[in-house]
Amino acid sequence: MASSNSSDSSASAEVPAPYGNGPGTPAPADRKPAKVRIHHLQQAKRDGTRFAMLTAYEQYTAEIFDAAGIEVLLVGDSASNNVFGNETSLPVTVDELLPLCRAVARSAKRALVVADLPFGSYEVSAEQAVSAGVRFLKEGLAHAVKIEGGQYYAPTVRAMVQAGIPVMAHIGFTPQSEHALGGYRVQGRGDDAQRLIDDARALAEAGAFCVLMEMVPAETAAAIDAAVEVPTVGIGAGKATTGQVLVWQDMAGLRGGRMAKFVKQYADLRTTLLDAATAYGDDVRSGQFPGPEHSF
Ligand code: KIV
Repeated sequence: MASSNSSDSSASAEVPAPYGNGPGTPAPADRKPAKVRIHHLQQAKRDGTRFAMLTAYEQYTAEIFDAAGIEVLLVGDSASNNVFGNETSLPVTVDELLPLCRAVARSAKRALVVADLPFGSYEVSAEQAVSAGVRFLKEGLAHAVKIEGGQYYAPTVRAMVQAGIPVMAHIGFTPQSEHALGGYRVQGRGDDAQRLIDDARALAEAGAFCVLMEMVPAETAAAIDAAVEVPTVGIGAGKATTGQVLVWQDMAGLRGGRMAKFVKQYADLRTTLLDAATAYGDDVRSGQFPGPEHSF
């Protein structure tokens, strides 16, 4: 089977590219929606254009982000600490993530849906990783999966790609290794940059269609991006990557508490929902709701 990062120019001619014509150029209003495929992301890297990625864990956000033109939706293991109430991403399981993934994949018409393989579902062997990947494509209806880790996982990526599972690699700060890494720490500073460049090269060489990097200095991220042909995605990795990703509850201000430096908040949904729920509670208690217009 051909590796998923092969560049197929006939395939890229199949549908109009889903992007604008250059960095920051909006897509023409009359551009027909196309399904975002891996080869579109690869074309974006070659063209020097950019794409956006957000997490999504259920139907309505998947529909909304898809309608907004977000090219890639990630059913992240960050569901662990953004949906299931855990403190870290470690406890979430394949069986917990699969229904979320299926809901996102059923609701997005255009976006590429990528699912995280959670901690414990791929580390033991390539066979274990292939089995988990198959479940996400077959039961979760994902289009691709993401795994965390460096060049040690190159044979795992190769086995998955050969089994027909497109793989996005996640390097730099890898939240599943939070305890091994000694907490949330920037990776790839100074002399450590070469380690991440080697990781990215090995994973791309093994067939990963994209390399995502988290909390990496912008200069290191630019060197990694230049070292691989495949597209890159950054979160706290500067602006040299082909794409950017954020956890949607951070991007839209639903989560409370301190935000990481790399987060930009585009809305304040926490306040909006708090105000709406408070007004509803007040109306119920005071007898303002339901009114005659809400009654049969
Ligand atoms: O699970 C997740 O949300 C992620 C992003 C932080 C990239 O892996």
